[in-house]
Amino acid sequence: MTQYITVAPDDRVEAKNGIIKLHGPEGFAGMRRAGRLAAEILDALAPHVVPGVTTQQLDDIVHQMTLDAGGFPATLGYRGYTKSSCISINHVVCHGIPGDKALKDGDIVNIDVTPILEGWHGDSSRMYLVGDVPLRARKLVDVTYECLMLGLEQAKPGNHLGDIANAIQRHAEGKRYSVVRDFCGHGVGRVFHDSPEVVHAGRPGTGPELKPRMIFTVEPMINLGRADVKVLDDGWTAVTRDRSLSAQFEHSIGITDSGCEVFTKSPAGLDKPPY
Ligand code: MF3
Ligand code: CO
Ligand code: CO
Repeated sequence: MTQYITVAPDDRVEAKNGIIKLHGPEGFAGMRRAGRLAAEILDALAPHVVPGVTTQQLDDIVHQMTLDAGGFPATLGYRGYTKSSCISINHVVCHGIPGDKALKDGDIVNIDVTPILEGWHGDSSRMYLVGDVPLRARKLVDVTYECLMLGLEQAKPGNHLGDIANAIQRHAEGKRYSVVRDFCGHGVGRVFHDSPEVVHAGRPGTGPELKPRMIFTVEPMINLGRADVKVLDDGWTAVTRDRSLSAQFEHSIGITDSGCEVFTKSPAGLDKPPY
């Protein structure tokens, strides 16, 4: 049975415990600010994602912008992770670690940022196209964005998490792509990875019911080939087992009385490439 709890501003921060938090107006206000910062960082990165730039250089921009805004990168020091972003190129599904690797013409890249601002986590990622990207990779990126948007259309009170999942899965599989099962979206707020787990494939009407004031991410990872992933020896980098291309977009959202509010929408209209 799914349990929900209403949280108030002066409540102690309750770690992930299986209970779904229902946030107050202060939670929505905090997520609006943190989400906007995440979106502004992703906006600012767009002109820098070009052939030759290293993923460390991009991470440095994320780091500096986060601190300049009075925030802190949630990933820095998280379970031993030492960077301010995750940067996942081509067949890397997620959690790519920024480093000396330079982007090259034709790459598709996901950049995932999570600034903490006044205690609230704004978690968002977008795909970027590096130079001239082949049509088949661009199509994967487009469809992955459509998957996220179709999922968000289902994010409304009375629906279930399975309705979001099913909308994503149907669209992806209808295009003969596959949905990654090993990583999920998650509750978010004052806790980075909170309950519930937000799956990206499933049956309509299954899973927890969506209630106003829930806050969570939707972040489908879609593969051009098979769904199977493996994590490299660095303990983080997740890649497709068949080395096929993978794409992902992520928004942080709050359930409202009639639908959802997207906290991480781009103020500049740069939600999907080309930018
Ligand atoms: N931002 C990622 C997410 O969407 C989490 C990254 S955790 C890290 O949930 F440690 F890999 F950075
Ligand atoms: Co997330
Ligand atoms: Co993220």
